[in-house]
Amino acid sequence: MKIIDLAAEHEEIYCQCLEEWSDEIKEAGNHKRLWYERAKDQGLRVKLALDDKGTVAGMIQYLPIEHSPAAGAGLHFILCIWVHGYKQGRGNFQKKGMGTALLEAAEADAKELGASGMAAWGVALPFWMRASWFRKHGYKKADKLGMMVLMWKPFGAETKAPTWIRPKKKPQPEAGKVVVTGLLNGWCPAMSMVHERARRAAAELDPRVEFREVSTADRDVFLEWGMTDALFIDGKAVRSGPPPKYEKIKKKIDRKLKKL
Ligand SMILES: CC(C)(COP(=O)(O)OP(=O)(O)OC[C@H]1O[C@@H](n2cnc3c(N)ncnc32)[C@H](O)[C@@H]1OP(=O)(O)O)[C@@H](O)C(=O)NCCC(=O)NCCS
Repeated sequence: MKIIDLAAEHEEIYCQCLEEWSDEIKEAGNHKRLWYERAKDQGLRVKLALDDKGTVAGMIQYLPIEHSPAAGAGLHFILCIWVHGYKQGRGNFQKKGMGTALLEAAEADAKELGASGMAAWGVALPFWMRASWFRKHGYKKADKLGMMVLMWKPFGAETKAPTWIRPKKKPQPEAGKVVVTGLLNGWCPAMSMVHERARRAAAELDPRVEFREVSTADRDVFLEWGMTDALFIDGKAVRSGPPPKYEKIKKKIDRKLKKL
């Protein structure tokens, strides 16, 4: 196994989170590619894990915390670490040490870039990206927002713990229509998938359903809302992780429509 920096030849599969085999990932559109082009200039770093045959089996992406969903200074924030774990496509590479190797490489790189520590998000429960995995690697809880735990590992004593930027705003219902509001940053295909499903459902249902996209790629817009990605039907947030199916989103919008 070896860890390499992302190079042009792997950009496409990186933008598909190594899941080019999945029809679902295609539903996410090209938002991650557009985000990647922006994030490159904001100090985004990407490393890939290759197995002995050269298959790309894992990835980690991190960037200065100033460009992340958390507040802090001097830290690098891990947006995502993913070792391909499905049987489909390239296969399951988890529990072979790749995740640990990716994390160690990212930490060493961040140190070399002058970072004073690392931050990462994890889920408090044992699914998806578990906060407990980071705990095993020396990270501690800095903050919590619902199930989302903000973990961190300072490299020195002087570093201040990061905090979550919290939701600040939500859309208000409007008379005579159903307003579907999608906040979109583009960094996560799972979130972009929900966004695109909602857009499609809104367009297919009824002219009284209005879809509004809020691009949180603009940092000021993100800070105004306090969320990078979210879906609202009128004023109500739709749970977006794990991504709800198209039919489920459509049914939720339709239910509101019938109440008009
Ligand atoms: C969390 C994650 C990155 C860890 O990667 P990994 O390659 O499986 O991690 P490691 O192999 O380094 O460590 C995992 C476990 O395997 C064990 N392990 C490490 N090397 C091993 C080896 N050679 N043989 C057997 N076990 C091994 C470790 O002790 C560890 O044990 P634990 O399960 O008790 O913690 C990976 O499981 C993953 O991608 N999960 C999904 C995360 C996700 O959803 N990411 C997307 C967020 S947007």
